[in-house]
Parts: sequence; structure tokens; C-alpha cells
Amino acid sequence: MRTKVLMVCLGNICRSPLAEGLLASKVNPEKVWVDSAGTSNYHVDDLPDVRSVEVAQKYGLDISQQRGRQFTIEDFDQFDYIYAMDNSNYENILQLARNEADRQKVSLILNKTYPDQNKDVPDPYYGGQNGFEKVYQMLDEATSLIAKEIG
Ligand code: 4NP
Repeated sequence: MRTKVLMVCLGNICRSPLAEGLLASKVNPEKVWVDSAGTSNYHVDDLPDVRSVEVAQKYGLDISQQRGRQFTIEDFDQFDYIYAMDNSNYENILQLARNEADRQKVSLILNKTYPDQNKDVPDPYYGGQNGFEKVYQMLDEATSLIAKEIG
């Protein structure tokens, strides 16, 4: 059985598509399945934000085939690990959890890099391209640690 990992942000067009693309590029696809979703329904079926596509492309990563979708309760059944990009996403996911097993699957992605510090991957949506570069670097580091653990 493949390990299944879900990356979650608010819109599923800026941060979590980068997290999905980065982790997918670092694992064996026969062993690990990676997907992403947003807590909101703002960008269902949308392409990733062009600024995320561009920063990924700069590092040789193609995320342009992804489409936005909303997180659903069934994702707790599908996925082994659910990584929230920020504390607000984290709280919103936990509100949907049905039991302790669901809650155990959810964590903040930057707690991989900075254990117990509960840091946010800042929402880059209203900023410039530099915000996307920073987000990319943060997620590159965190996904390398995740890939090392789950292969
Ligand atoms: P994301 O960024 O959560 O990293 O995908 C956002 C994208 C869209 C919106 C907010 C954040 N929005 O309000 O439409």
C-alpha cells in the first residue's frame, strides 16, 4: 500500500500545489502518493496561481497540470498524513475531524523543519513574486525532510 500525503492550504492555488509538486518530485511514486486541497471552495478546478507555476518552473518543477479542489471529510479516510500550510488551515481541518485517528493525521508542515514552533507558511497571494520564492524555499526544505522519512 502506498503512503498517501495531502498538502492543504486555503485556496489550493499558491502554497499547497508547490508542496505537492515538491514532495512528489522527491519520492518514489510507486511508494508514495501526493495530492493537495484547499480548505475553501474559492478556486475549485482552477489552475495554480501563475506566480507559483513560475517559481516552480524556475527550479525545473512543472505544477501546471494541477487543479484546485476543496478538502473533504473523506480525505481523512484516503490519506495517512495531512500537512497544513498555516495555523488557520490547521484549525479548519481539525474542525472537520471526526475522531482522534483523524486528528492524529494532521500537522503543520513547518513543524518538520522547526519542531513544535507552529510556524506558518505565509500566504503569498496578496504579495509579490518574492513571497512565492520564500514559500518555495520553505517548502523545499520541509518536503526534503518528509521525503527522507517516508521515501
Ligand atoms: P493559497 O493562497 O491558500 O496558498 O492557495 C490563497 C489563494 C487564494 C486566496 C487566498 C489564499 N483567495 O482568497 O482567493
